Formats: sequence, C-alpha cells, structure tokens
Amino acid sequence: MIVTDRLTLRRARMDDVDDMHRVFSNPAAMRYWSSLPHTDRAQTAAFLSEMTQASHDTSDDFVVEYQGRAIGKAGCWRMEEIGYILHPDHWGQGLATEALQAVIPHAFETLPIDRLVADVDPRNVASLRLLDRLGFVEVGRKANTLKLGDEWCDSVYLALPRPMSMS
Ligand SMILES: CC(C)(COP(=O)(O)OP(=O)(O)OC[C@H]1O[C@@H](n2cnc3c(N)ncnc32)[C@H](O)[C@@H]1OP(=O)(O)O)[C@@H](O)C(=O)NCCC(=O)NCCS
Repeated sequence: MIVTDRLTLRRARMDDVDDMHRVFSNPAAMRYWSSLPHTDRAQTAAFLSEMTQASHDTSDDFVVEYQGRAIGKAGCWRMEEIGYILHPDHWGQGLATEALQAVIPHAFETLPIDRLVADVDPRNVASLRLLDRLGFVEVGRKANTLKLGDEWCDSVYLALPRPMSMS
C-alpha cells in the first residue's frame, strides 16, 4: 500500500466492483480506453479478477482510493506498461499526477524493468499532458492499432527510462 497526501494506492479487491463499475461504465472515462465502456457489472468483475490475480513478478498495479472510495486505478498492469483511469468527478485536481508520482518509483523499485511505456490515443490530450509532465517522451506512432466498435484508433507510444538514481 502507498499513501500520498490525498490518496491511498492499494491492491485491488473483488469488493471494489461497484465503485470500479462506476468508472469503467462511464463513457467519458472510457473514451480512449482499450475497450468500450462496461455495460455489465460482470465485465468490471472480470477486470478486477485479473487485477487481483496478476503476478507481482510482472505487474505492480493499484486501485486509487480517495476519501474512502475507489475512484480508479493506476500502475504497471503488465511488464513495462503503465495504465491509469480516474472517474471524471475527480479530474483536473492533480490526482492522476499525485498517483503516478508515487506509482512510478514503486514500479522501478519492484520490477526488473529499464523503462516504463505507455500507449495513448493521440486525441487523449489529458493523458499526453500527464505523461509529458511526468517526463515520458514519445518514441513512436502507429495508425489503426485498435478497433473499438466501428472506430479505428491510433497509438502514440511513450517511454520513461529508469532514473539513473535508481539503477
Ligand atoms: C488522464 C487522466 C487520468 C488525467 O487525470 P487528472 O487527475 O485529471 O490529471 P491531473 O489533474 O493530474 O492533470 C495532469 C495534466 O493533464 C492536464 N489535463 C487534465 N485534463 C485535461 C483535459 N481534459 N484537457 C487537457 N489537459 C488536461 C492537466 O492540466 C495537467 O497538465 P499540466 O500539468 O500541464 O497542467 C484522466 O483524464 C482520465 O482518467 N482519463 C480517462 C482514462 C484515460 O484516458 N486513461 C489513459 C489511457 S492512455
């Protein structure tokens, strides 16, 4: 568990399903996610089940808790790759920055990785600004990487090298 000024970052539990379904069923939150909004609580339960069973040898992922409720997730969900989502009620208050400023050093401490990477839809300005502020740099782009419903989406790939101080 990691505690920051405003957040508690902890491992996922199956009883997070209702709070997390609020996040994963929200169309604004899911606009640039890698799947369509969850329409069924069982989809969120399946996502949480994967989170709870993920090996700590290859992942370091957290539920983000704010004022006693789960409002999203942030972390390295598979080797090297970072992913994060917060409910829109809590956007624009620096909470994702705060979560990732804690999660990133933790991932470098606990995983055998030389860098973290992110795969972002080029239209996802908030995510790109967040990563820029955290020091990620663009390392590539590709068109038509994901089809969601009827829509093809592109990817911007970004990377953050392991800090020299942690090598
Ligand atoms: C991306 C996300 C986590 C950002 O959360 P947040 O708590 O609002 O982010 P912060 O308040 O820490 O702000 C981070 C930066 O993004 C900017 N930002 C936030 N929302 C923005 C928006 N709608 N448009 C443009 N910039 C935005 C902030 O201004 C800040 O940049 P700055 O430091 O240069 O001012 C949130 O928008 C989200 O959950 N989006 C949906 C899920 C998603 O797309 N995840 C990423 C998949 S790759």
